[in-house]
Amino acid sequence: MKHLWDIHFLLLILLYLLGAVTSQVNPGVCRYALGMSGGKIQDEDISASSQWSESTAARYGRLDFEEGDGAWCPEITVEPDSLKEFLQIDLRSLHFITLVGTQGRHAGGIGNEFAQMYKIKYSRDGSRWISWRNRQGKQVIEGNRNAYDIVLKDLEPPIIARFVRFMPVTDHSMNVCMRVELYGCEWLDGLVSYNAPVGEQMNLPAYPVYLNDSVYDGAVIHSMTEGLGQLTDGVCGLDDFIHSHVYNVWPGYDYVGWNNESFPSGYVEIMFEFDRTRNFTTMKTHCNNMFSRHVKVFRQVVCYFRSEADWEASPLSFSPVVDEKNLSARFVTVNLLNHMASAIKCQFYFADAWMLFSEITFQSDTAMYNTTLAPPNTGLLPNTQPEDDPTHKVDDSNTRILIGCLVAIIFILVAIIVIILWRQVWQKMLEKSETFAYNNNQSSTTSEQESNSTYERIFPLGPDYQEPSRLICKLPEFAQSSEEPASTTTAASKSTTTTVAQDGVPHYAEADIVNLQGVTGSNTYAIPAVTMDLLSGKDVVVEEFPRKLLTFKEKLGEGQFGEVHLCEAEGMQEFMNKEFLFDIPEEQPVLVAVKMLRSDANKNARNDFLKEIKIMSRLKDPNIIRLLAVCIYSDPLCMITEYMENGDLNQFLSRHEPEGHLALLSNASTVSFNNLCYMAAQIASGMKYLSSLNFVHRDLATRNCLVGKNYTIKIADFGMSRNLYSGDYYRIQGRAVLPIRWMSWESILLGKFTTASDVWAFGVTLWEILNFCKEQPYSQLTDEQVIENTGEFFRDQKRQIYLPQPVLCPDSLYKIMLSCWRRNTKERPSFQEIHRALLE
Ligand SMILES: *[C@@H]1O[C@H](CO)[C@@H](O)[C@H](O)[C@H]1NC(C)=O
Ligand SMILES: *[C@@H]1O[C@H](CO)[C@@H](O)[C@H](O)[C@H]1NC(C)=O
Ligand SMILES: *[C@@H]1O[C@H](CO)[C@@H](O)[C@H](O)[C@H]1NC(C)=O
Ligand SMILES: *[C@@H]1O[C@H](CO)[C@@H](O)[C@H](O)[C@H]1NC(C)=O
Ligand SMILES: *[C@@H]1O[C@H](CO)[C@@H](O)[C@H](O)[C@H]1NC(C)=O
Repeated sequence: MKHLWDIHFLLLILLYLLGAVTSQVNPGVCRYALGMSGGKIQDEDISASSQWSESTAARYGRLDFEEGDGAWCPEITVEPDSLKEFLQIDLRSLHFITLVGTQGRHAGGIGNEFAQMYKIKYSRDGSRWISWRNRQGKQVIEGNRNAYDIVLKDLEPPIIARFVRFMPVTDHSMNVCMRVELYGCEWLDGLVSYNAPVGEQMNLPAYPVYLNDSVYDGAVIHSMTEGLGQLTDGVCGLDDFIHSHVYNVWPGYDYVGWNNESFPSGYVEIMFEFDRTRNFTTMKTHCNNMFSRHVKVFRQVVCYFRSEADWEASPLSFSPVVDEKNLSARFVTVNLLNHMASAIKCQFYFADAWMLFSEITFQSDTAMYNTTLAPPNTGLLPNTQPEDDPTHKVDDSNTRILIGCLVAIIFILVAIIVIILWRQVWQKMLEKSETFAYNNNQSSTTSEQESNSTYERIFPLGPDYQEPSRLICKLPEFAQSSEEPASTTTAASKSTTTTVAQDGVPHYAEADIVNLQGVTGSNTYAIPAVTMDLLSGKDVVVEEFPRKLLTFKEKLGEGQFGEVHLCEAEGMQEFMNKEFLFDIPEEQPVLVAVKMLRSDANKNARNDFLKEIKIMSRLKDPNIIRLLAVCIYSDPLCMITEYMENGDLNQFLSRHEPEGHLALLSNASTVSFNNLCYMAAQIASGMKYLSSLNFVHRDLATRNCLVGKNYTIKIADFGMSRNLYSGDYYRIQGRAVLPIRWMSWESILLGKFTTASDVWAFGVTLWEILNFCKEQPYSQLTDEQVIENTGEFFRDQKRQIYLPQPVLCPDSLYKIMLSCWRRNTKERPSFQEIHRALLE
């Protein structure tokens, strides 16, 4: 009975939470249609640069409306590069805008004008206009592809503004008409700007952490003035400030941080300006508290208030409790005691060398944000990014999602309670029989299952490394000839609406794709059994390294059975071959990556780990990371490999820019085109070596290449062990983890990994390099769409989408990429050919 009570209690809490209001804006919920389509925005608040005629005036630019001639159309055709035309909306008060929707002019079939691309400008005061850019700095937003579908785009980062302008952009002179909607909620904080010292750079041994405010929309000279940015973007940073929710950004992205050495006064002063005089209740500051890296919540804050023209004489002071136990980032709430003010100036005192903030919110008067999902007719949109979907459909699905979530939560709660009950009963039984069989059995069976799959993964099948037999059973049509299956032609003759499964290409969910996760969660080289035999004839030549000479610096990643640490090793020189000595100063500690197996790992995992050592010890190439030494005399088992001072190629390129005007102006570090080619050629050379040994890497990508001095590159293999890149991997039913955006069609659909699929991944890696890793491959496609696209590669009916030619990329290089992505594996170039071509 007690447990039934618990269910009731939990449900009550749940319902309470769903109906609650909070003091911070929640970008996931703040997605209400702001009234272009609903009519809440008045005609007089919609204006435009010009109009074609009275019947295409600004007031007809309402999403999903068919009045007038069906949309707003400017007077003249829109020319490329001219940004004269705009449709402007005045929201009458500050709003937090998370999403925009656009549509063309359909007018019952007569119209056919739409904006393929557009930019957004916004303003809080009506005089200073700011161009919106996404987190990668891009301004242009992809718009419509026809005159009738609604295209919704998430704004990342969101906008805080009263005025918003939509500015159509074209690549050739054309007629453009638009209907638009904004989605978001009122900005109850009322904050118009914060002024603060610029965030600084923290130098960790492995890489710098950039704690600047990367989306600040005001002026940034010696300090930040008149803008809003990361402290108001609704994204709270993670406990470990190096990682971020946002994909493909530099370490420290979510936080703005300062070092005490730069502030002799001992505090950082931030000034907040508001839209009007408000009655303040609280200020909440989201602070990092990673004291292990000298980051702590502020020791004290002193706030001054300005209501009319003058600052109040007596400030308010607050000291939070210093927490040296809990590393979690948290909101620190300061009670502002109903002070009336239109500006607040706060001095945050350092408690340690660093102070890192990711959000600051203000609560005033009695205003509270909804966290409840809105009634369907208010046009609330779901959290996903639906495209080409009329809003009413979206609403519908939203209600369904909500109900689905509720049902799911209830099920989970019930399941938990059942498990609790069941365990109690079970434990009583165990106590009676006085055995511990249950615990032991359970842990050993699960770990055996796990290790079985690991075992299969690292040392796959026969000499040619064919596809796993389980998979072939499921796919009879591939068993005979997977290179030129007859089903291609039959598929073509079927109706065009056939699904992937009907075409004979297995759907990803049913394809039992090999588990790629290694012992330490990384993805070791696949190696044919024959080569393995050859190798095992010789002795392992790596030496044991005294564990005590390793100094832990940082965790690089972790997997199922182990972790990868960045360490400094003393006296490593003695363990290295002569060939390495020249580039390492003597008597200095060396940075090394230490892959270690947890001591609780089972026997199979240990065997795999020892085999991995054997394989690694044979690899000797200037462009492959070397195994330097091991610690296998005692637990935990360790493998010590080289690490390179500039970290991985993805992060390295992300913080560099192409040479040119822009880079000169912004003073950014650059990499020349020749050096890009030089790095790509080194990857090709390392892969040439691996392929000559019949090794298949299976996870070639910039994140797995390390950069040393003078643009030297070595191929490594961290696999999915690093959280930073978890977005690059696709999880199937929580088991297999696959870097699908780098994988060839045959690897995804058939589980076939060969040198030819490494060549495919090389093509994608080359594409990343020429894009300076500023974008994830197929970033506009969801994981599911990437897999669908793989089906198109298999069917080869010219409907597959290739990665586009990067701006920097000359035709000759793009040709190499395209040749890597040929459908027929035999037509793809070898690494030898690629290497030669890149040297030219
Ligand atoms: C709260 O929800 C209502 C609809 O239920 C909406 O009209 C209103 O704008 C929302 N308020 C905020 C601050 O988002
Ligand atoms: C913040 O630092 C990053 C990394 O150096 C840089 O790319 C970005 O432009 C900086 N942003 C601002 C606003 O200074
Ligand atoms: C500010 O709000 C509080 C609580 O609502 C109220 O008691 C107080 O009178 C207000 N102060 C002013 C100056 O209006
Ligand atoms: C640490 O703080 C976080 C956030 O305040 C909290 O959720 C967590 O339970 C705390 N952990 C411990 C061990 O106190
Ligand atoms: C900065 O903080 C560190 C750690 O608390 C301290 O040792 C150092 O003296 C501080 N420096 C200044 C200039 O306050």
